[in-house]
Amino acid sequence: MDSGTLLARITDYASRPDPYPLYTELRAAGPVVPQSDGSLLVGGYHEVAALLHDPRMSADPRSRGLVTAKPPFLRLDDPEHHRLRTLAMRPFGPPHTPHRVDGMRAEIANITKELLAPFESGGQVDVVDDFAYPLPVTVICRLLGVPHEDEPLFRAWSDTLVASADLRPDAASAPRDEAERARAEMGGYLVGLSEQRRDEPGDDLLSAFVSEPDPELRLTREELAETAVLLLIAGHETTVNLITNGVLTLLRHPEELDRLRREPGLMPRAVEELLRFEPPVHMRERVPLADFDVAGITLPQGSSVILALAAGNRDPRRFRDPDRFDPTRPDNQHLGFGSGIHLCYGAPLARLEAQSALTALLPRLATAELVEDPPPYRQNAMLRGPRHLSLRL
Ligand code: HEM
Repeated sequence: MDSGTLLARITDYASRPDPYPLYTELRAAGPVVPQSDGSLLVGGYHEVAALLHDPRMSADPRSRGLVTAKPPFLRLDDPEHHRLRTLAMRPFGPPHTPHRVDGMRAEIANITKELLAPFESGGQVDVVDDFAYPLPVTVICRLLGVPHEDEPLFRAWSDTLVASADLRPDAASAPRDEAERARAEMGGYLVGLSEQRRDEPGDDLLSAFVSEPDPELRLTREELAETAVLLLIAGHETTVNLITNGVLTLLRHPEELDRLRREPGLMPRAVEELLRFEPPVHMRERVPLADFDVAGITLPQGSSVILALAAGNRDPRRFRDPDRFDPTRPDNQHLGFGSGIHLCYGAPLARLEAQSALTALLPRLATAELVEDPPPYRQNAMLRGPRHLSLRL
């Protein structure tokens, strides 16, 4: 088929349950594959990784001439990105000391246990709504210091923002002004909350941000709002897919599920393999700051270059037997958390949550059956995951 329509075929909702054959087609079509809409698709592991590290590639949508408000640091370039990322990471603890997230291990295990109640009574459960969604939401809200009763507010805001952040938002997704309003409301709420924390600090991130004594290291009001919104959305919309994809993958691979039940110590490696095999983030967009060539093809300045992390993760030039789910895979340097300057810094938290969730679920999965395989997926092609995952227990 025409390789110029690959992106359109990948983003087509019909491909959501299994985009992997299209990624194989993409890697076969070349290191850089121009699309009929003017964008360029990249799916080889080495090329994706190299471009994520290339300072000639911008993460900022304004480099493509798009007029938007100043984005959060996820979509800013150095040096500004570096400054904000460094400040936003400070409350997680200095390098080589116990990370704030390590201190949450017991708390995460407790939240997991509470959420497992519906699984005890048998019958049917939805892994997404009953477990995989509430867990990271509760954890990120506690980390930031958002009161429990306000958590539902975030689901609506976050849904709106994520729908608008899709690669090729469809007609059904929220229009841009609705997304802007959600962002503004969420930011306003968080600024209000951080002002309360300034007077009565707690042991949370917002308190840490507002009580920074050094003005050089203090985030402005807008930066604080942007950073808190970024952390909340990153904490909402990715870990849910990792946990849900984990349950789905283990149920599709009963022999690996059995093995993990016998050897629960393998769980950290199983979670790494999930991040390779069924990653929550499938693609990221970058923009060349100047014309340059990759493998004889020019990446034009200002163009949209789509880096398919999930295709790189299945590249046979990098991973042996890449379509096999192998929790004991050695040398598993996947692109699930990205690479380069924007490498996910929520990774320690995401890993801990997924390990805790899947370990707690293991005994229940032995007798669980998928009600529907494939399950219904969410619309988003970049942040890909099931909308529901019903199990009969
Ligand atoms: C399984 C869960 C997660 C996955 C798969 C994931 C994946 C990613 C990826 C691929 C990127 C790089 C984006 C790019 O290069 O354009 C990223 C960046 C980021 N992630 Fe995560 N993430 C997860 C969970 C989290 C959590 C829980 C947090 C918050 C505590 C978080 C915070 C961030 C932030 C702040 C960035 C931007 C870093 C920067 O621009 O310097 N992530 N994540």
